[in-house]
Amino acid sequence: MAPPIARRLRAALAGTCALATASAGLLVTAPTATAAPAPAVASSAGSAGAAAQYPNYAPTPPMGWNDWSYYQCGIDEKVILDNARALVSSGLAAKGYDTVTTDDCWMAHSRDASGTLVSDPVKFPHGMDYVGAQIHALGLKFGIYEDAGTATCGGYPGSLNHWQQDADLFAAWGVDYVKLDGCNVPDIAGQTSEQTYHDAYAAMSRAMLNTGRPMVYSVSAPAYFEGGADWRTVIGWSAQVGNLWREGADTALGQESGAAKWNAITYNYGYNVGLADLQSPGRWNDPDFLLAGDAGLTRDEIQSQMSLWSVMAAPLISSTDLSHLSADALAVLGNADVIAVDQDALGVQGRIVQQGSGYHVLSRPLANGDRAVALFNSSDSAQTITTTAAAAGLAHASSYRLQDLVTKNVTQSTGTISADVPPHATVLYRVRAGGTDQVQPATAITWKDVSTPAAPGTYQVSLTDLGSTGLSDTRLSVTAPQGWRVSPASADLKRVRPGASASATVTVTAPKAAPGTTVSTITATATYRAGAAGAGSVSGPLTLTTTVPYPGLAAAFNNVGVTKESDPAPGDFDSTGDSYSADALAKVGVSPGSTVTANGLSFTWPASAPGTPDNVSASGQAVTLTGQGSALAFLGAETGATSGPVTVTYTDGTTSTDTLGFPNWCCTPDNAYGAQTAITTDHRNTPGGPANYGISYKVFSNTVPLTPGKSVQSVTLPNAPAIHLFALSFKP
Ligand code: GLA
Repeated sequence: MAPPIARRLRAALAGTCALATASAGLLVTAPTATAAPAPAVASSAGSAGAAAQYPNYAPTPPMGWNDWSYYQCGIDEKVILDNARALVSSGLAAKGYDTVTTDDCWMAHSRDASGTLVSDPVKFPHGMDYVGAQIHALGLKFGIYEDAGTATCGGYPGSLNHWQQDADLFAAWGVDYVKLDGCNVPDIAGQTSEQTYHDAYAAMSRAMLNTGRPMVYSVSAPAYFEGGADWRTVIGWSAQVGNLWREGADTALGQESGAAKWNAITYNYGYNVGLADLQSPGRWNDPDFLLAGDAGLTRDEIQSQMSLWSVMAAPLISSTDLSHLSADALAVLGNADVIAVDQDALGVQGRIVQQGSGYHVLSRPLANGDRAVALFNSSDSAQTITTTAAAAGLAHASSYRLQDLVTKNVTQSTGTISADVPPHATVLYRVRAGGTDQVQPATAITWKDVSTPAAPGTYQVSLTDLGSTGLSDTRLSVTAPQGWRVSPASADLKRVRPGASASATVTVTAPKAAPGTTVSTITATATYRAGAAGAGSVSGPLTLTTTVPYPGLAAAFNNVGVTKESDPAPGDFDSTGDSYSADALAKVGVSPGSTVTANGLSFTWPASAPGTPDNVSASGQAVTLTGQGSALAFLGAETGATSGPVTVTYTDGTTSTDTLGFPNWCCTPDNAYGAQTAITTDHRNTPGGPANYGISYKVFSNTVPLTPGKSVQSVTLPNAPAIHLFALSFKP
């Protein structure tokens, strides 16, 4: 069966570890979260007998640390042991993060004469058994990576047909946790890929069982079938042969952008959230690593991942540099109340109980009868998310106690569960029946745009009382970033009865913005007294996004795509430091400012010197472009496989929208998305210098139609950072 596109691209790019991961986190569209559940299937048809049920060595979701996302192949004994020590000294080990797993690239490139795996003598001079002993001495568990194929994803010896030999070695080394990846599993004539994977993973399961050593077994097989017809079948037998399973794409790597990491988190959430039926206590869906601690993610984003993973009862496996953990990351990873949700003895994966534009509400039953309720705002704007105790699965009661597991705020509600949730944030409540009038009533702020052409930027700001105690002495104040004007900045509100609202009308005026997109947060805070519960307050943000077109494409350049072979360092066309070679481009007549003529189109190549910004990684930028033609022409390439809408604004104020995509710069068919090859170079630059000779790194042209007879004023690019643009022009 065809592996999913991220895997296919990875295979096309494979060769070195760095290359093998160049496409990680590419996908932006998750399989539908609401797909009809299929029953778990215990064993694949026609495979070599049903595997024995592997013992439950992970009664709660595994927790710990793995090096892969942050370090990839850049590991050694010091990296592993420094992180193991940091796990202890940070206090995270005591909170349950107890397993330290060395991922790919720990091995030498071949087995010894007796077929035994050998550790890399330079990276691990004392051997992996020594690493394991050190990890054990810290009171932690020892995890190791292998692969069910002929070679690991990084190209080191795989376990195929060495099952018992490798399992015995791991047991002798004191391994407590084995992650068995699924790269390079060869096809077997007469068998489906699903059967072959089943037999391989079942063989390792038996071999591990034979050792007599309890080793948690992490199965990667389902990740190689993500979204395909056999996906759920593979997850079904993964739950038979192992304890947890990776079921989809790799999360982003530590060196990728914050946007790529957030994209990967929401993507992995998207496929995992629909699989609750396939998980049972001790048999865990694994949507891959926690990225808290990595550069580029906001506090709200890392908290969202932690809270969502916990509601989904997912393994909590950090993959970052723990020796330099920020206070925010430590607070997020170490939040005992959130960890308690993840590790709850009931072991039930939460489900979506309500969804709407840019939000999901998830609910999970907990062992003591409480419910964990997550309000996840996946959108780019703050919003008030509101559900009910009944929708969240709680039994009817006259009052509920809501504990916000991050702020620790406790409030009381008569049945509405609501929160003002910033963009990309998740509010996680533990909810139970109860709550007295001594407890602050739950309250919420909502912003409603009531602007008119004569009064732009006008909002009705409301304070709603969701508890059973009324609010008095209510005062609303609104704060905005420097340069904004708010009128009035504060106002007294009427008393608010239980279940009712009071509001004020506020006008906000933006300062003159620079070209580009500016996101501003305006915050309304209400203070009040709530009877016997005393003084209380609530804040609600409003996100305002203003876009001012760049004067031209060059003014929007935000990425270095071309470097000199003598200095590839500034290049980063693909988020892993690779770039086009200026020397290779010059050989085919392309140099700064030169004209590129191809496919009946003519473009001006960026005038930028190699090593300086020369292309736009498209993220919804608006660019001024004036002129006319039969179509709008783009010169660009992709480091992914995606497309997105381009909106053209005409001088008469009308718009037209069409889809733009390009082939991957090296590795997808040249005509993907209707593009045509414009420039072909014969190698690229990598951070280590010119490389990959013999592979064609291309730049393509593509067009979108224009409304006949109209003049273009500006163009808004797709929000798809894998799409890179070097030039725009009009097709005559
Ligand atoms: C695959 C896995 C990753 C990591 C790498 C190592 O991509 O999904 O988690 O183990 O292989 O090469």
